[in-house]
Amino acid sequence: MKKIGVALLGLGTVGGGTYRILKANHDRIMENDGVDIEVRHIIERDVKKAEALGVDPAIVGCDIDKVVQDDKVQIVAEFFGGIEPAKTFLIKCLLAGKSIVTANKELFSKHWDELEAAAKKGGAGLYFEASCVGGVPIIRTLTDSMQGNNILSLMGIVNGTTNFILSKMADEGSDYAETLKEAQNLGYAEANPSADVDGFDSTYKLSILSSLAFRTKVPVPCIYREGIGKVSKDDIAYGKRFGYTLKLLAIAKQNGDKIEARVHPAFIPNDHPLASVKGSFNAVHIVGDNVGDIMLYGRGAGDLPTGSAIVSDIVYAATKAEPKYTSFDNRNDVSTEKFSTDFECKYYIRMSVADEAGVLAKISGVFAKNNVSISTMVQDVAADGAKLIFLLHKTKESAVNASLREIESLSCVKSIDGIIRVEE
Ligand code: HSE
Repeated sequence: MKKIGVALLGLGTVGGGTYRILKANHDRIMENDGVDIEVRHIIERDVKKAEALGVDPAIVGCDIDKVVQDDKVQIVAEFFGGIEPAKTFLIKCLLAGKSIVTANKELFSKHWDELEAAAKKGGAGLYFEASCVGGVPIIRTLTDSMQGNNILSLMGIVNGTTNFILSKMADEGSDYAETLKEAQNLGYAEANPSADVDGFDSTYKLSILSSLAFRTKVPVPCIYREGIGKVSKDDIAYGKRFGYTLKLLAIAKQNGDKIEARVHPAFIPNDHPLASVKGSFNAVHIVGDNVGDIMLYGRGAGDLPTGSAIVSDIVYAATKAEPKYTSFDNRNDVSTEKFSTDFECKYYIRMSVADEAGVLAKISGVFAKNNVSISTMVQDVAADGAKLIFLLHKTKESAVNASLREIESLSCVKSIDGIIRVEE
């Protein structure tokens, strides 16, 4: 029986979940995959965490060099998160010929090139299934199951915290600030929620997923990013009237020789498969030219779901003879020319205006001048004026922005209150 030594860097939520899964499934993995996985080192300062999991204290410590120098360790799984010290540790391990397994999307999306160079030099493997959408096997689907396709688009809900917040706002009619607070109290959102609510986490994941989908590097700075901080309960309510659900989407599309990659709140029709993905669940919808539509759905975070993806990578690394690297030029300094910035979308626009003669004519005149076509308009009259909601046909972002700049300067327009893209 092939014996495989593993080191776990960190024993927090996902590290702990991974340890539990490895322990509970040890014999099954031996039987099914023909490898006897032994956890030989755990790097963790908090000995209590190790004790709670029943780990032999002799294998717990803080010295990464022990891991690097142990010839019996072939695979190192990292759970530190963030860039340093994870990057330095992992590069040391790769250069020593040890394959790495990680859930670290920020490190991977920003420094994949350096990790891959070190892996090639050390003849080691890089496995990162857990970095995107937790327990959902999206990376392996893209790398090992889509070879017969040209992927046309990938669209996903890849952040559970924001999906939890938006689902709750929609179900309860609550506003953003109070729902965020509730999500923090329930442990869904961090005390500093920026990585999730400002869309950074989704952007890291989209960088990795779209690079694999289109077999070309999509660096983080080439992805348009907008979080959910400006989402209002009024927009969610108006969206419902039009048959739309609001989601924070990570979207990547191949348009001719250009790629567009963006993370932002978007309305989708209620019958779109992603509209039924609620709470903290995640899903990714892919369209391949031969397979058509695929959707993968599941838990994008948590000890056991993410631990499940880590264990799958450990077994994969333990049983595959040759490490596989990216087939594309994996550098961050790729030409930005291949990325579109002026996206074409349908739009939802909400504005507050004076309720008087000629307002609609002036606003629609500006849209017409910029070649922006209106598909639907709703007016709600109140004591202090009117709310106008426009749905626009597919149009370039630059044309919408030019129109809105002009509309905002009209004396009959009090404010532009909501601008949301619509994906169908
Ligand atoms: N914070 C992420 C989420 C999970 O809310 O989905 C880890 O990327």
